[in-house]
Amino acid sequence: MKNFERLLVTAALPYANGYIHLGHIAGAYLPADIYVRFKRLCNEDIIFICGSDEHGTAIEISAMKEKVTPKEIIDRFHNANKSAFEKLGISFDIYSRTSNEIHHKTSQEFFLNLYNKNLLTTKSEKQLYSEKDRRFLADRFVEGTCPICGYEEARGDQCENCGSNLSPLELKNPKSKISGDTPVVKESVNFYFPLEKFQPELEKWIKTKKDWKANVKNYCEGWFKTGLKDRAITRDLDWGVKIPIEGYEGKVIYVWFEAPIGYISATKELFEAKGTPDKWETYWKDKKTKLVHFIGKDNIIFHAIVFPAMIMAHGDYILAENVPANEFLNLDGGKLSKSKGHGILVKDVVEAYNPDVIRYAIAANLPENKDADFSWEDLQSKNNNELAAILGNFVNRTVVFAQNKFGNKIPEHKGKTRPEVFKYIENQKKVIEDCLNNYRFRDALNEIMNIGRAANKYFNDSEPWKVIKDDAEKCGGIINDCLEICHSLAIAINPVLPFTSEKILGVLNAGKANLAWDNIGKPCLKPGTELGGNAILFPQIELSAAKEEEAKEEDNLITIDDFKKVQLRTAVVLKAEKVEKSKKLLKLQVRCGGKEKQIVAGIAEHYTPEEMLNRKIVIVDNLKPAKLMGLESQGMLLAAKIDGKLKLVGIDGDLPDGADVS
Ligand code: 2FM
Ligand code: ZN
Repeated sequence: MKNFERLLVTAALPYANGYIHLGHIAGAYLPADIYVRFKRLCNEDIIFICGSDEHGTAIEISAMKEKVTPKEIIDRFHNANKSAFEKLGISFDIYSRTSNEIHHKTSQEFFLNLYNKNLLTTKSEKQLYSEKDRRFLADRFVEGTCPICGYEEARGDQCENCGSNLSPLELKNPKSKISGDTPVVKESVNFYFPLEKFQPELEKWIKTKKDWKANVKNYCEGWFKTGLKDRAITRDLDWGVKIPIEGYEGKVIYVWFEAPIGYISATKELFEAKGTPDKWETYWKDKKTKLVHFIGKDNIIFHAIVFPAMIMAHGDYILAENVPANEFLNLDGGKLSKSKGHGILVKDVVEAYNPDVIRYAIAANLPENKDADFSWEDLQSKNNNELAAILGNFVNRTVVFAQNKFGNKIPEHKGKTRPEVFKYIENQKKVIEDCLNNYRFRDALNEIMNIGRAANKYFNDSEPWKVIKDDAEKCGGIINDCLEICHSLAIAINPVLPFTSEKILGVLNAGKANLAWDNIGKPCLKPGTELGGNAILFPQIELSAAKEEEAKEEDNLITIDDFKKVQLRTAVVLKAEKVEKSKKLLKLQVRCGGKEKQIVAGIAEHYTPEEMLNRKIVIVDNLKPAKLMGLESQGMLLAAKIDGKLKLVGIDGDLPDGADVS
């Protein structure tokens, strides 16, 4: 085992164009925070770095949609996310932002370092350019007609109608989404990073990482098998870090190249604020620093492959020791995943619940090796059946006993030795350490709670309520033991439940003087100290409250009135024919009650025109007409799709056309 002198922990920089949600927390921030808090208790030299990732097309697009500047977007989300993290107790030493000048400078220096070593190559490619906007249009800044299905509002990267992946140059009648201008094709030169060249070195490096999680290693091996390709590291965009080379005006460094450099910039900023501006270098340059990147699985390629290759190319900085990436957290089967973008927002949930209960419910369920599920029922049950029943109960019964029988003071312990349970706790300390050092946070939490279980057993087995009747001194010893165990618990739970830890220390009137990992299992309290009052640490959560929360959070639920807006009706197909030059489309003439209408549907790969004839189908009758391949479609038919197979939604029995479906 290598001996490190200090730790540098980073957590992925979230994009500042959306609110962070519980999926993000489970992916990177909570495991990172537990790890960092544990190391701080062990008195290690450690810094915890994070901040907002504030560049990239997505942010420009959000700004364009809202008709505000990118700066307005990033300010809003940066501040909201910073505060949400704080309320959840995620204890970054700095939450910086990549729009800060220090970051622009650091990224440009990094870029120039590689450029001056002749490591970067350039490539000229055709791109759409708008004379009116005076800029190249990145894929999402262009809209036009899909060459596959004829949909007229296809995006430059993808057609939302037929799902085809597109490039802006393939679109027919392309238009700038900024001004509506018709762009022209122009050559544009961009820089490339020679990732391919670094594959052997990367493979060799990752082979030495015996303790990396299997999911991360497998992922990297997959990439190596396919073979790494050189990557474009500049973009024709406005918003971002400018390329520090003449002749490249109007271009920026690709967000994924500069974002991880944000970890370095933030470290500089941190030490500048501390008044020791040079100290950042020890953290990034001295081999005795252990660098750990906490991320979600969608960021593995950038932290385990691209950023390390950049560092190898640069030469001055240390490489990561570990990249403990987590999988996704799902809400009721799939809705919380980070990639899908929506979930339970931290800013809302911290207003409704004790943050430690949220931390506990997530920590007990971390997607460490595979995707995991989160539900409000589970949060409620974890609060009532674990936190309240084990931890809250033990602290409460001990303190109430001391209040009632020992004048609200810590009784003396006159016995020479401590009971067995202390040995157990000392041993648990090592077990928990081992879990935490190996990024097994779920196991760690379970072992921490085992101390609580053992504590309750000790209380029950010692029967202080009986002993008090004829041996007050012995009983005082038992309660002293229990209060000391409360203190040990306050330390052991601190990384996961920092707010509760502080509350318990308050109840014990113990202060933070002995809040150190090494004190777990060691008596630390001063007999005679007045207790700080009884605390109900975890009030019961009613299921209905959890359910209500669920209802509130389920932003994709609609009311009956929403549903009623959609007029579904039965219809019969009178005529069906193929659409020229389209593999996917059929043109249908349908009758729906008294009227006839034309529907152009993407079903040609699944149904022939003959099969459609005279068929009863269900249509959306009040859909705004749209043009597909120049043909007007006056409705939409309902069909279900699974594994690429499409089946029409049918009608059971004999119904005339024009009937309302509800
Ligand atoms: O996935 C994301 O949210 C990215 N903004 C993460 C960037 S991590 C690092 F490279 F900065
Ligand atoms: Zn299409």
